[in-house]
Amino acid sequence: MEKLDISVLFVEDEDLLRAIYERILDKIVKQLYIAENGKEGLEAYREHRPDLIITDIMMPVMDGLEMVENIRKEDSDVRLVILSAYGEAEYFMDAIKIGVNSFLLKPVETKKLTSLVQELANGILLERKVKDEEKQRRIAEENLRKLNQELEKRVEERTLDLQHEIKEKIQAENDLKELNQNLENRVNEELKKREQQQRLLIQKSKLESMGELAAGIAHEINQPLGGLSMGLDNILFKMNTSRASEEYLKSKIESMFEDIDRIRQIINHVRVFSRDQQNLVDDEVDINEVIRASISLISKQYQNHSVEISLKLCDEECITRGNRYRIEQVFLNLLSNAKFAVLEKSKLTQDVGYTKLIEITSYVNQSVAIIEFKDNGIGISEAHLNNIFDPFFTTKDVESGTGLGLSISYGIIKEMKGDISVESIENEYTILRIKMPLSVPKK
Ligand SMILES: Nc1ncnc2c1ncn2[C@@H]1O[C@H](COP(=O)(O)OP(=O)(O)OP(=O)(O)O)[C@@H](O)[C@H]1O
Ligand SMILES: [Mg+2]
Repeated sequence: MEKLDISVLFVEDEDLLRAIYERILDKIVKQLYIAENGKEGLEAYREHRPDLIITDIMMPVMDGLEMVENIRKEDSDVRLVILSAYGEAEYFMDAIKIGVNSFLLKPVETKKLTSLVQELANGILLERKVKDEEKQRRIAEENLRKLNQELEKRVEERTLDLQHEIKEKIQAENDLKELNQNLENRVNEELKKREQQQRLLIQKSKLESMGELAAGIAHEINQPLGGLSMGLDNILFKMNTSRASEEYLKSKIESMFEDIDRIRQIINHVRVFSRDQQNLVDDEVDINEVIRASISLISKQYQNHSVEISLKLCDEECITRGNRYRIEQVFLNLLSNAKFAVLEKSKLTQDVGYTKLIEITSYVNQSVAIIEFKDNGIGISEAHLNNIFDPFFTTKDVESGTGLGLSISYGIIKEMKGDISVESIENEYTILRIKMPLSVPKK
């Protein structure tokens, strides 16, 4: 049989008995302590804390009852067994009061002793097991409690962090909103200012183009005026020589009315052109007609400077929607830039055969009308190509340019859903290309 895993203290003063029981007990339990009287027994108990104490009653120095009484005061769990001789029954009541677990009558049979120890050992081991489990449970509970505490602490910390983060986020969002609002207000203000400026600039540029036109207009009006005065001269002459037939007079007067009409047309044109047209007129505009009208206004001056203008206009109808006077203003701006470029080139070039040439081409590609103004003037350096549409960008001196022509032209073309771009090689050519959506003819 495997030894029981308990410790036993055996107290007996008689040497022989002690030796016999020691042998028996040693075989059945793992740990055995021996004492020879109550005092030694008490000391051994205090030193080793055995699970079970088996003791004789009558012993010198300190008897068994006194010993177990002391021990029971210190330890309510330890198992106590009294060995008593026949005739010692009077102690039983005291023993029971003390809390002794069991009695054995001497002489004790080996079997009885073994089975009692076995029985008590079962209880001790079960109790130990329960205690162990209880201890484990308490440790586990404690660990769980600590874990919970830690978790709670972390949750609390994290909650605080999150609250802080959320607060910061809300603050940041509010800041952003405010910033956005400010920005929006500023953009709106800026846009309003820009719009006002743009209107002023368009008007200003129109007036500048008017300067460009003045000479052309004078020339245009001069022609019909010349016709008128010649017609009147002729009539006067005929009247003086009284050879003026009614038919002759009629035809002369008709042609004079035509001259007057021409002058009226020119004056009307200039009046419409110079009016501040804030509201976009959405008319059908024949692009080729606007090109011709623009040229008719400036061709004389350009001839005076030997600037050749060649036209390659599309055969199809090039009709777009918009304001014809604004488109004309753009064309005049581009022609004025082209003229300046060829005049500059002619000043700089060594080439005696240089011809100042402006070519105007219009053609249709899918649903877009394309108009190109090409000149063989000084061209534009690569560094400037990206800036020429910027307001106030100019390479000309103060008298020759304000730097507004192209930026205003850009605004006008964009307003009419078109596009304007540039292509140039310095000292060779410049092409300003305008794309306008073709108007879908109304049925
Ligand atoms: N056909 C061209 N050839 C060479 N350079 C050009 C041509 N068209 C425009 N540029 C360049 O673009 C600049 C800007 O042109 P823009 O018409 O906007 O202003 P500007 O002609 O200088 O002055 P403004 O037209 O206001 O009198 C010009 O100064 C010039 O440097
Ligand atoms: Mg210009």
